[in-house]
Amino acid sequence: MYSEKVMDHFTNPRNVGEIDNASGVGTVGNAKCGDIMRIYLDIDEDKIIQDVKFKTFGCGAAVATSSMATELVKGKDIQEALKITNKAVMDALDGLPPVKVHCSLLAEEAIHAALWDYAEKNGIVIEGLEKPKSDISEEEHTEEY
Ligand code: FES
Repeated sequence: MYSEKVMDHFTNPRNVGEIDNASGVGTVGNAKCGDIMRIYLDIDEDKIIQDVKFKTFGCGAAVATSSMATELVKGKDIQEALKITNKAVMDALDGLPPVKVHCSLLAEEAIHAALWDYAEKNGIVIEGLEKPKSDISEEEHTEEY
């Protein structure tokens, strides 16, 4: 049912963790299953993603797609990172079963949410970037207070 690459990234996920003082942090929730994904980006002054880490309360497919997505965006500039869709991530994993396609959206949307956070912190506009509807970063802040 799952490709070897999916199994590899699920059993040995890359870039799991957090980044202190990250340039951007994005947290999104999957409306279908309630799973949550958080991505941390470390972006340098040339707008290159130097480091990326993720944490998730998500299923195996969410772990595998996020692991692959972090590998794909690392070292890219923010415009290139924006072009990495969930489809590109699934292709890189040799596909996902149809019922698991929605899981791959978490990684794409968490990256977009982290880029949105980075843009807001730096007072810039990233062309082509929209705030993901699944962005729950603000809700979390309200819970914290
Ligand atoms: Fe929730 Fe896969 S079932 S992310």
